[in-house]
Amino acid sequence: MIIDVLDTAESFAGVTRRTVKKVPLLRGRTVVNLFFEASTRTRTTFELAAKRLSADVLNIQMAASATTKGETLLDTLANFEAMQCDMFVVRHNRSGTAHFIARHVAPHISVINAGDGSHAHPTQAMLDMFTIRRIKGDFYPLSVAIVGDIAHSRVARSQIHALTTLGVNEVRVIGPKTLMPKDIKALGVHVYHNLEAGLRNVDVVIMLRLQRERMDSELLPGELEYYQQYGLTKEKLEAAKADAMVMHPGPINRGVEIESAVADGPRSVILQQVTHGIAIRMAVMSMTMGSGPNLGTET
Ligand code: CP
Repeated sequence: MIIDVLDTAESFAGVTRRTVKKVPLLRGRTVVNLFFEASTRTRTTFELAAKRLSADVLNIQMAASATTKGETLLDTLANFEAMQCDMFVVRHNRSGTAHFIARHVAPHISVINAGDGSHAHPTQAMLDMFTIRRIKGDFYPLSVAIVGDIAHSRVARSQIHALTTLGVNEVRVIGPKTLMPKDIKALGVHVYHNLEAGLRNVDVVIMLRLQRERMDSELLPGELEYYQQYGLTKEKLEAAKADAMVMHPGPINRGVEIESAVADGPRSVILQQVTHGIAIRMAVMSMTMGSGPNLGTET
């Protein structure tokens, strides 16, 4: 299934390079972006993806919606159902929200998880796999290191799931003990607490932000100490393979988890990840609504 999404996204990547970046696959359909939590990349690339599939798009400002007047989430969503909307794209700070919505809305409505709490961020992981495959080719020989705040990261959980499903040689997670889930080894990863040891000979380095909004206590001595131990600098990156690629889902915090010379350097693919997010989200939306990529006709 992941490979089907990646292959479909390859077709759409061609569309995003055209002068007229549109195909009619979702013409007449309405997509509702329901973002209860801040987002730059995911919200806008879902919106662009929907528009490039010719769907109508509603971006709901949840802070300005009737949920602030006591209306329940499900009652608010019932109104979008009454407007014959077809798809909800959901980001929420509570794990399980997209699944909860999917269980309660009418069966013809598609629900896509755009990130829920510390649980999952499936389309981020898929765009990351798309980026890795484009640059490295096969997955099976690769050693991949995910560095930073693993405990609070929905991105790390989805990436680990995707990487192990795709059969990579090794997934390493690197970070301080306070930011490492106790049961993480059960996911099939190797755990490191020393950055240079964990980076040795890896092909892919994925850096993560400290997700302070999900920390309910002070888990670190300070950002400077964190940067000294776990910040990715040019010197520390030398432990990885000479052609190792550097990824980050964003938002990046320069001087906290990554040095500018690395974030902006020749091995960084951070902005390519953002570009690929559009093709992946076009693939997920069209596949979810049962529209295959017949890309011959531009609208
Ligand atoms: N990667 C990611 O989810 O970024 P946003 O929070 O900006 O959507």
